[in-house]
Amino acid sequence: MQGAVNGGACGLGQFCGINQISIVMSFQHQKIVIAGGTSGIGLATAKRMAAGGAAVTITGRNPEKLKAAEKEGLRAVRVDSKDRVALDAFFSELGPVDHLVVAISGSKGMGEFAGLSLDILREGFAEKLWPQLETVQAALPSIVAGGSITLITAISSVLSRPGTSGLAAINGALEIMVPILAQELKTIRVNAVSPGLVDTPWWDFLPEEQKPGVFAQWTSGIPAGRVAKPEEIADVVAFLAGNAYMTGKVVACDGGLS
Ligand SMILES: NC(=O)c1ccc[n+]([C@@H]2O[C@H](COP(=O)([O-])OP(=O)(O)OC[C@H]3O[C@@H](n4cnc5c(N)ncnc54)[C@H](OP(=O)(O)O)[C@@H]3O)[C@@H](O)[C@H]2O)c1
Repeated sequence: MQGAVNGGACGLGQFCGINQISIVMSFQHQKIVIAGGTSGIGLATAKRMAAGGAAVTITGRNPEKLKAAEKEGLRAVRVDSKDRVALDAFFSELGPVDHLVVAISGSKGMGEFAGLSLDILREGFAEKLWPQLETVQAALPSIVAGGSITLITAISSVLSRPGTSGLAAINGALEIMVPILAQELKTIRVNAVSPGLVDTPWWDFLPEEQKPGVFAQWTSGIPAGRVAKPEEIADVVAFLAGNAYMTGKVVACDGGLS
């Protein structure tokens, strides 16, 4: 690991005596899989790790997004993480893997509980919880000793915010497994990054003009005062994958939201 000092200000004005520090992790000669790597946090993480020297393979379902990622120099393979047979075939073809990052998203399950359709919530679990777990289980025989798994969960798991009980249930289920998996797997480290609001295509269900208002509603009172960039979450993923002493941890990167 090297510390690289950027030229930018730290954002704390006169109280900050140092410039912004960006940690550059080396992933030289390492094979990394980013499941759900065709956009947002997964894509930013793929670029981050590739810049650190890794041979990165990303997966996703959308052929256009896969093609666009290939144009950026990433190896992109179409794999639906709901399809266990496809996942098993993908990992057995790929051979040994050093690090797995699982950024598969789901978006269903929001809304106050009294009016929440449990069928929709079931779909929310089916979009995120099960595909993340299927991916991890399929990858286990391929991950080398000393390797790592990093899940992308969500800070809704701890927020107690009205309207998010469904998302909290999905992400909380993943997060609560992390320290147990770390104990069970031991030679493979297991962590999660729990982001707050991040400006990614996840929010594309909102009309573009509504996004600033929704983002402001969530972030105006928090220390960071803004949504995150996907690259900022990618930095934390790279840290967890690259630091051999980090395991069993759910690390929040939420600008102080929680
Ligand atoms: N954005 C936020 O504010 C925010 C906040 C907290 C947590 N998170 C979490 O962060 C993670 C990444 O989200 P994001 O914001 O980066 O969203 P995103 O831009 O929508 O990216 C989601 C990725 O998951 C892939 N994906 C979804 N279902 C898949 C499946 N069954 N098989 C394979 N790939 C699949 C998508 O690819 P295809 O479309 O090609 O399938 C895409 O690459 C998610 O777990 C999300 O819940 C996001």
